[in-house]
Amino acid sequence: MSAKPKIFVTRKLPAPVEARLSAEFDVALNKNDVILTNPKILNAIAGFDGILAAPTDKCDAELISALPDSVKILATFSVGYDHIDISAAENSRLIVTNTPDVLTDATADIAILLMLGAARGAYWGDQMVRQQTWGQWSPTAPLGMDVTGRRLGILGMGRIGQAVARRARGFDMEIHYHNRSKLPDNLELGAIFHSKLEDLMPTCDFLSINCGSTPQTRGSLNKETIQLLPDGAIVINTARGDIINDDALIKALQSGKIAAAGLDVFNNEPDIDPRYRTMDNVFLLPHLGSATPQTRIAMGMRAVDNLEQFFAGQTPRDQVTK
Ligand code: DGY
Repeated sequence: MSAKPKIFVTRKLPAPVEARLSAEFDVALNKNDVILTNPKILNAIAGFDGILAAPTDKCDAELISALPDSVKILATFSVGYDHIDISAAENSRLIVTNTPDVLTDATADIAILLMLGAARGAYWGDQMVRQQTWGQWSPTAPLGMDVTGRRLGILGMGRIGQAVARRARGFDMEIHYHNRSKLPDNLELGAIFHSKLEDLMPTCDFLSINCGSTPQTRGSLNKETIQLLPDGAIVINTARGDIINDDALIKALQSGKIAAAGLDVFNNEPDIDPRYRTMDNVFLLPHLGSATPQTRIAMGMRAVDNLEQFFAGQTPRDQVTK
């Protein structure tokens, strides 16, 4: 009987995922969930056949080129793979896989939470109750903003963007989107396509960012594009922090050009731009898009499926490298 493939797991994973990994592979688990630096990974990785990594691992060209030849696959526990240098992986013939589909609904749910929370004052309302600054109910203040019937622009109409659109239809929203290409009618379901980001912006009472982080999308929300939004627009981000230029967004939130923002992802997590913490018109979450037990188990199982398929000589279903 041939030996089981050896898998190096960089983060503590949900118990059922670790149990399956331990049954199917010879695994090194990270039981204490210590964040491993790249030198630590390289020190420990000799003799392994694959890595199960996470978005907190910076899988750059330096790390990838220093991996031993025995490592043939890097399966990430995430749909996003902007933390991995894909061309370096392709040059090193390292297969990379991700975990699409299984976190679509959980992430779209968080986008709707952010949209409602930012518009209706979930942060400042909660603070008023906790800090006992809640005076008598008043017809005129404090007031949030309506969601129902307003226009939602979606930047990135992939799986998660479409799931946000499906939910937003329940709020009778008019849906616009910008994407690399127009969706077929059966997926578009009446949403209005804009081939240019500049044309989407003026249609957004709400802008939901749902695109992947790529050289083309990074910094898409910046000083120039913010100016194209209607005054008082609301920005929601469940994709990646680097799609937004923080300085431009913060200035627009301070001036009132943008009325509010709901953010689950940030540049330089968890050390975010500290100005966000001081603002009442932002509703902030700590990257909770996929954070439910069911979704995290499903993500882990999907990563293990990919490893299993690879070591069975098949093309993993979620291979992102060519
Ligand atoms: C992903 O999978 O890319 C998410 O950001 C993790 O929730």
